[in-house]
Amino acid sequence: MSAKKTPKAEAAALRAEIREHNRRYYELEAPTISDAEFDALLARLKALEAAHPELRSPDSPTEKVGGAVASSFAPVKHARPMLSLDNTYNEEEIRDWNDRVLKQLPAGDAPRYVLEQKLDGLSCALTYEDGRFVRAATRGDGETGEDVTENARFVGNVPERLKPAKFAIPKTLEIRGEVVLFFDDFNKINEEEQRAGREPFVNPRNCASGSLRQKDPRVTKSRRLTFFVHSYGDWKPDHDFAGHAEFLEGCRRMGFSVEPFTKAKSIDEVVARYNEFRDGGAAKLPYAVDGLVVKVDSFAQQKRLGFTAKSPRWAVAFKYPAQQATSVVRDVEFSVGRTGTITPVAKVEPVFCAGVTISSVTLHNFEEIERLGVRVGDRVLIERAGEVIPKVVKVVEKAKKGSPIAPPSKCPDCGAPVVKEEGLVAYRCDNPSCPAQLRRTLEHFASRPAMDIVGLGDAAVDQLVAKNLVKDAADIYGLKKEQLLELELFADKKADNLLAQIEASKAKTLDRVLFALGIRHVGEKTAETIAERMDLDALMNAAAADFQAVPDVGPVVAESLHAFFSSKTGKDLIGRLRKAGLTMTKPERVIASGAPFSGMTFVFTGELKLGTRDEAEELVKSLGGKASSSVSSKTTYVVAGEAAGSKLKKAQALGVKVLTEEQFRELAK
Ligand code: IVH
Repeated sequence: MSAKKTPKAEAAALRAEIREHNRRYYELEAPTISDAEFDALLARLKALEAAHPELRSPDSPTEKVGGAVASSFAPVKHARPMLSLDNTYNEEEIRDWNDRVLKQLPAGDAPRYVLEQKLDGLSCALTYEDGRFVRAATRGDGETGEDVTENARFVGNVPERLKPAKFAIPKTLEIRGEVVLFFDDFNKINEEEQRAGREPFVNPRNCASGSLRQKDPRVTKSRRLTFFVHSYGDWKPDHDFAGHAEFLEGCRRMGFSVEPFTKAKSIDEVVARYNEFRDGGAAKLPYAVDGLVVKVDSFAQQKRLGFTAKSPRWAVAFKYPAQQATSVVRDVEFSVGRTGTITPVAKVEPVFCAGVTISSVTLHNFEEIERLGVRVGDRVLIERAGEVIPKVVKVVEKAKKGSPIAPPSKCPDCGAPVVKEEGLVAYRCDNPSCPAQLRRTLEHFASRPAMDIVGLGDAAVDQLVAKNLVKDAADIYGLKKEQLLELELFADKKADNLLAQIEASKAKTLDRVLFALGIRHVGEKTAETIAERMDLDALMNAAAADFQAVPDVGPVVAESLHAFFSSKTGKDLIGRLRKAGLTMTKPERVIASGAPFSGMTFVFTGELKLGTRDEAEELVKSLGGKASSSVSSKTTYVVAGEAAGSKLKKAQALGVKVLTEEQFRELAK
């Protein structure tokens, strides 16, 4: 910003810039600057307007909340505006906020605070009439949002009907909260997007927003979104509750998910808790948060404090510094995925960011490289949020003589020509027998949610492919002990173990095999839905339309399945797997009603001591229950063994009941 500009010209320039960033954030879901940079622009504009009141205007972005309504959804006028929160970034600012709060409350009426995570998702308002879900709206510009009712029905934990509570649930009730996407689901979606040659989502928030605002609600369903309550609209909960913490408990009783919150008695405690979360807790959460929200608990005190035009005075965001660092791009490598997609990966000078040392950063695809304008030698800003793969946000310093990054003309692994399909973003290795693709395919085939062949990990696959012992998944079943013993990795016992694992995998049901085959667009859930309805012969003889008749299967997935099962390679592979002795039976789901686990879904996580995971899952199925590999709000129990990690955290976050292994065994007796 030039220092010579008049305040009027500077304010006009800032407004235009802020409006453009608002448009990119809310409408295009493709922000080009970080939240902190955006806040700095807004703060500069606020300061200008404060110093020159004649520059103030009701349509300035300082007076309004960001987004505009996208045209394809019907507009919904909010009963009360959906406001924003003021941001603070350090101890001094949060103490200033607290001083303002104290000044407005009678002396001696010191507030208590509720601390919540500031969820990095999108706000949504849910309306209930007579306890039934009737409407969902996005925030939009704060006054008017978009009607996303049909899509919100597919947000797993949005209750269709409220559970009776101890208080009288009003006839009309509007709950507000944040729709978020867990990191593990986000990473899966992005892998899928890249495999399909589409642009990956920049972060879980954009992905959640895009997923909720889909034309086809079935896409929303497949994205596994989660809604956490944080506030309310059309409701006066002060009739029933003394404050915010009680309100949240009330919501939990009605059947909503409420993220874990804590209470603090003083601002010193707030600061201590903030430091604790910022330095550890926040990075371990299974979803993205960008700070804490500090709320005065008491509704009576909230009333005294009131609102400004934009935000409540009784609440404030206490943001974490962005998990970003800068480093220099030293080189670019190209990794080849299972379907041949080539992903450029920047090799950077090792840098410490968000608790880990980063030396590889994804550049997603070549359009992204162009958008960023990045070259080898440039200094770049890197961001890492939770378990999301680190990425480059922007170039911060151009190298004097940077080398441009061009797509390789040959596959880095097999040397075959690289092609770009019409209309798709990704470049792909065109060689179906590319060893890199084969390695990824075999790793996927043997992975836990697929055939679960323990001992056939990356290292073993590398050696088997290098020695030409395995050319496709069916070859795994022809492996002999002598062949394994020739490989560095296998001594006597290990070879026996692997062969036993391979043998055991022959009994895997059709859903697992279908997923293991790695057919494009066919994920775990899709494979299960299809295998429950079609046996192997039906799959082999189906037309694309037959696949599309299965619930949740759209035209792209149907076409991909049909292409595989009607191809010579597909037919041969299935024929050889059959010959090798794979049973590929339909998954058993017809269980007598009244079975003890009927209607229940179990997820096992961590190391089990009292039996293998397979055996525990079989036990669940034999008692009429379902075993799943991922936790959602529909999970009945998570059984946590030793060293349980992100699934346990997700269960706790969603309020899913957690059992020890012993408790599970007791339940199954
Ligand atoms: S309270 C009156 N609590 O942050 C404001 N908001 O910058 C009521 N957000 O639009 C919001 N986590 O979408 C509240 N624990 C939390 C939140 C939260 C995320 C979002 C919310 C709001 C935005 C404000």
